[in-house]
Amino acid sequence: MITKFHNIQEKDARNKRIIIRVDLNVPIKNAQIKDNTRIKEIIPTLKELLDFNAAIIIISHMGRPGGEKKLELSLSPIAIELSRLINKDVNFIDHIPDSNSPYSKNSFDLGSIYMLENLRFYPGEAENDKNFIQNLSQIGDIYINDAFSVSHRSHASTIGIANKLPSYAGQNMLKELHMLESLLENPKKPMAAIIGGSKISTKIQILENLIEKVDKIIIGGAMANTFLIAQGHEIGNSLSEPDKIKIAQDILIKAKKYNCKIILPVDAQISKTLDHDVPTKNVSLSEIPKDYMILDLGQESTNIIINELENIKTLIWNGPMGAFEYSPFEKSTITVAHSISKLTKSNKMISVAGGGDTISALNMAGVIKDLTYVSTAGGAFLEWLEGKILPGIKVLLR
Ligand code: 3PG
Repeated sequence: MITKFHNIQEKDARNKRIIIRVDLNVPIKNAQIKDNTRIKEIIPTLKELLDFNAAIIIISHMGRPGGEKKLELSLSPIAIELSRLINKDVNFIDHIPDSNSPYSKNSFDLGSIYMLENLRFYPGEAENDKNFIQNLSQIGDIYINDAFSVSHRSHASTIGIANKLPSYAGQNMLKELHMLESLLENPKKPMAAIIGGSKISTKIQILENLIEKVDKIIIGGAMANTFLIAQGHEIGNSLSEPDKIKIAQDILIKAKKYNCKIILPVDAQISKTLDHDVPTKNVSLSEIPKDYMILDLGQESTNIIINELENIKTLIWNGPMGAFEYSPFEKSTITVAHSISKLTKSNKMISVAGGGDTISALNMAGVIKDLTYVSTAGGAFLEWLEGKILPGIKVLLR
């Protein structure tokens, strides 16, 4: 698919006013940036555009302010951080220029960088509103989308503007697509997926799609509980989705049809409460008391997963195995992360992971750099795994 994009060339960009959609949705508290990875990532693209003497107009969202101005979600601190990192002025404009704004196309000087205020302060962004699209597109000559992680959103800044201006995929977008496609489209077999997290409802499409592609799916996290009920187990007070039991059964039937082995827990780490350092025990599935919750995989389940991973050549991982934010319920997730790291480092496995919780877990395990590829996208990575062509990508195809 990568070949089907317009890749920006010097002749397209030289002396142009370029609106570039990036994802600067970084963790921030009291104007303090907690992780500047996403800001650093855009710098090579900006430098290339500066070499072409372009005027760069950066647009992004931060958080979900719901169409209202919320000062704590202003992009102003991000502009300051970018300026520090790139060692050049980044002119922050505290609004999106409309007909009442002192800014028009000619206000954006060639060779300079500008950053507009959070797109999501305006309802027109999420509504893909035509006036808002007009306001955005009138200040630029061309548009680049360099934000794979928001390309699952049909917003003004992802699809509306792309339909108005000559549009290109940015370097980060191309790199992300290239990595996902080259690693996963013709994967080395056997291939497995580890799918965890709390809700089966958010992963149904992913499971349905993966069953047709992979040899094994390892299911962990609270979403495994609904599968355990579907198999007839009592799970005490554990989190589950009773209205999804039928779906879990259907997924198990579909897996059989496609010869995809589903690996579910056989024991559990349980407790009465979900908190740090609470009393906990490792029990088999037949021993879960009514007032206890499954909060992590048990030792035997973890060992089974480690064994199952041994001969896997390509692995996709999304979602933790237990309530890993609470110690000691991080154990199985960390053990699995270490095993993936080891197999990848010894060139036995290609490993691809993505999603916010998975990234936190990989950081917690200290192995994030060991995997073959980790996508920083959350929702977009999940929708990509579902097999969808994301709207913000579709609109960029030739
Ligand atoms: C992300 O962090 O995954 C992206 O910035 C998308 O954010 P959203 O889910 O609020 O659209």
